[in-house]
Amino acid sequence: MNLLELHSLAVHYGGIKAVKGIDLHIAEGEVVCLIGANGAGKTSSLKAIAGLLPAAGGEVLFRGQPITRLPAHQRVRQGLALVPEGRGVFPRLTVEENLLMGAYQFDDKPQIRIDLENSYSLFPRLQERRAQRAGTLSGGEQQMLAIARALMSRPRLLLLDEPSMGLAPLMVQKIFETIRGIAAQGVTLLLVEQNARLALEVSQRGYVLDGGRVTLADSSESLLGNPQVRAAYLGA
Ligand SMILES: Nc1ncnc2c1ncn2[C@@H]1O[C@H](COP(=O)(O)OP(=O)(O)OP(=O)(O)O)[C@@H](O)[C@H]1O
Ligand SMILES: [Mg+2]
Repeated sequence: MNLLELHSLAVHYGGIKAVKGIDLHIAEGEVVCLIGANGAGKTSSLKAIAGLLPAAGGEVLFRGQPITRLPAHQRVRQGLALVPEGRGVFPRLTVEENLLMGAYQFDDKPQIRIDLENSYSLFPRLQERRAQRAGTLSGGEQQMLAIARALMSRPRLLLLDEPSMGLAPLMVQKIFETIRGIAAQGVTLLLVEQNARLALEVSQRGYVLDGGRVTLADSSESLLGNPQVRAAYLGA
């Protein structure tokens, strides 16, 4: 079954048509990437899926049910979690307080404890810094925290917006290893990346977004070998 389906999804900012009717689907367990140049509409699409922006047209289906007009917090309850571009951690809260915010919808303390320990085993660095204010973490550590906080909401589908942005190569490798690990645990992933090569290497399928439209949709392997994609997005 498809976990997520977009049917002609459109996103507008006043008169600006950022997303012009895209179709996309993700099966349970898949890792799918969305690549495209600056301004292609990637973030706008993710925000509309998460309910942070209204759809100007089209439908979003989650587990077969339309969620197009549901508020964001109800989508979180259904298992949709977004790790936003720029991370969005609460800078004045500690690492652990940020993580607990990810579990705000739950009141089963023992399970929340288990999830917290899982976050720390996924990211030992966060455990060392559990009492540190999030605003004082490095960029890479903030990215880890943002991912871990999203996992605290026990997502079925994790939306990741540019997890590698602004990070040194070693940290990018580390984040991507973790993303592979999360996928291996059975979480379905929609990954948006400027780093198209890395995104295509970690995913099974990909969509190319250009000017608010899907211009290519294929297996990641085919996209990696596609001359157009290589010229435009892989610097080859
Ligand atoms: N709040 C806004 N108001 C008006 N226009 C916006 C707003 N946010 C985004 N846009 C426009 O919508 C288009 C798509 O932006 P979006 O952020 O979705 O692109 P993106 O693919 O995520 O780009 P990037 O790779 O730079 O993050 C751009 O032309 C952008 O200028
Ligand atoms: Mg973006």
